Amino acid sequence: MFWSIRRPVALIALITAFANATGPLYGLPVLNGPVIGTTQVPGAKSGPGDFIHPGLWHTHDDLERMRLGVSNQTEPYYTAFQAFSNDSYSQSSYQIQGPYSVLCRGQCSNYTSFSNDVRAAYQNAIMWYITRDDDHWNRSTTILDAWGTSLSDIHGTDTSLLVGLEGDLFANAGEIMRWEGNWTESTAAAGGSAGFSNQLYWLFARQSIIVGQANYGMISIKALLSFAVYLDDISMWNYAINLYQNDLCAGLYGNLQPGSGQSSETGRDQGHAQGGLGWAAEASRVMQSQGFDAYSLGNNLLLAGGEYAAQYNLGNDVPYDPKFYRCEAILVNGPWSEPSPISRGVTTTTPYVYDILYYQYVVKRGLSAPYITQMKQQLDNLTGGEGHTHITNSLDDHPGWGDLIWSYPSSGQYANNNNQTIWGAAKKVKSRTGLSL
Ligand SMILES: *[C@@H]1O[C@H](CO)[C@@H](O)[C@H](O)[C@H]1NC(C)=O
Ligand SMILES: *[C@@H]1O[C@H](CO)[C@@H](O)[C@H](O)[C@H]1NC(C)=O
Ligand SMILES: *[C@@H]1O[C@H](CO)[C@@H](O)[C@H](O)[C@H]1NC(C)=O
Ligand SMILES: *[C@@H]1O[C@H](CO)[C@@H](O)[C@H](O)[C@H]1NC(C)=O
Ligand SMILES: *[C@@H]1O[C@H](CO)[C@@H](O)[C@H](O)[C@H]1NC(C)=O
Ligand SMILES: *[C@@H]1O[C@H](CO)[C@@H](O)[C@H](O)[C@H]1NC(C)=O
Ligand SMILES: *[C@@H]1O[C@H](CO)[C@@H](O)[C@H](O)[C@H]1NC(C)=O
Repeated sequence: MFWSIRRPVALIALITAFANATGPLYGLPVLNGPVIGTTQVPGAKSGPGDFIHPGLWHTHDDLERMRLGVSNQTEPYYTAFQAFSNDSYSQSSYQIQGPYSVLCRGQCSNYTSFSNDVRAAYQNAIMWYITRDDDHWNRSTTILDAWGTSLSDIHGTDTSLLVGLEGDLFANAGEIMRWEGNWTESTAAAGGSAGFSNQLYWLFARQSIIVGQANYGMISIKALLSFAVYLDDISMWNYAINLYQNDLCAGLYGNLQPGSGQSSETGRDQGHAQGGLGWAAEASRVMQSQGFDAYSLGNNLLLAGGEYAAQYNLGNDVPYDPKFYRCEAILVNGPWSEPSPISRGVTTTTPYVYDILYYQYVVKRGLSAPYITQMKQQLDNLTGGEGHTHITNSLDDHPGWGDLIWSYPSSGQYANNNNQTIWGAAKKVKSRTGLSL
């Protein structure tokens, strides 16, 4: 598949060599470690009550903004919702394709049933929140429970990508249904031996702890941030938020050159270079939900990264530093002497990464980003908007539908009301009364 890389046997030896390094997650291997276990890093948490729920990509206030934008018929929400609600993955009649107990990603890839079902679980969760239609509640939660009680193992060299991409989207669906929909995992019991949370902890999170390089590593970091919130796991959160800020191979500064915004994958191909921007933006979104402003780190480095990639993909020249490249570039034929023209341009397979940057920096913060803005307009002209044309070979790399899920009506602070959590009154009783649109 598109994102796969060949991992040589030497890497296995490297993992073993580091297995004795004691990270903050006692005894588990830390590839880029040892990482200092710290509560001193900005954004660190000190108790499970510090977590905000729902608090992965969408807080309660974020979800309310979507719902009210649609019911008020405010743009871009209203038009985006017309297309979103018409999408095949948003239907409560969606036919579940799994579950299976074992999947594989790598040379043996056989996970499309999971990709499709995860997307349907997420889109039905958003549909339920906006419409309050029970049938969407049912569709999302039956998919969560079906896979949550069945999937027990994942094989292949790219297991980290499957759990970091599909697994993260699935966790986002679960977080909404649990905290807003009062969904209880079907096998959750005092024994605690089965169910979606167990899968998240034992299969997804543990796999993600071994962090690779550049965009690949960023996928694990952003997924760990989500998994940590879902599980209220303080050490996992502090581990991941430290990596985001201090892992010089996979964190923000391993992916983007301070100042220029050049990606460490710019010389590899534009799919990976742009994809990495989206994963860092999604990681930052989870940190924002938890009250930490990661978007402004490095003097808005992620904004500079978006401008750099958009400038190049719009057909312009960019300054290029061949000495800024990904760790272990040798794995993927690097380092590289110039920006790669592979998958360059404004196309129907351009990763869905520009809406999240556009709404966060240009609309919400009122900052100037002429290339990102132009990129978004050209992509919207070409595809109708993120998500409207499914990128079939990388369906769950990014959620898409940015005009609905990432948008803000205008600039402002949009602080979360943290009272609307378990300590507050966010839980909604499902009902068939719904919302008239
Ligand atoms: C929707 O309408 C409500 C009530 O008039 C208003 O408070 C809210 O700001 C509006 N929100 C959006 C996103 O249009
Ligand atoms: C809804 O989907 C159908 C086909 O699936 C398409 O013909 C129609 O244009 C779509 N409508 C909107 C509003 O996107
Ligand atoms: C996927 O491949 C693995 C490894 O070959 C196998 O064990 C598993 O049963 C397969 N799963 C599906 C859904 O085909
Ligand atoms: C939920 O969906 C399942 C599977 O389609 C169905 O068997 C069940 O009756 C539905 N439950 C409700 C309350 O609609
Ligand atoms: C998008 O399409 C509209 C209508 O065809 C056109 O006026 C506009 O210049 C296009 N914008 C971009 C950025 O291509
Ligand atoms: C949250 O709750 C606290 C204590 O009840 C209250 O003082 C505060 O004003 C509330 N914040 C908001 C935004 O409602
Ligand atoms: C949530 O669900 C549980 C059972 O699953 C039920 O006992 C409880 O009353 C529900 N709470 C709300 C607010 O719907």
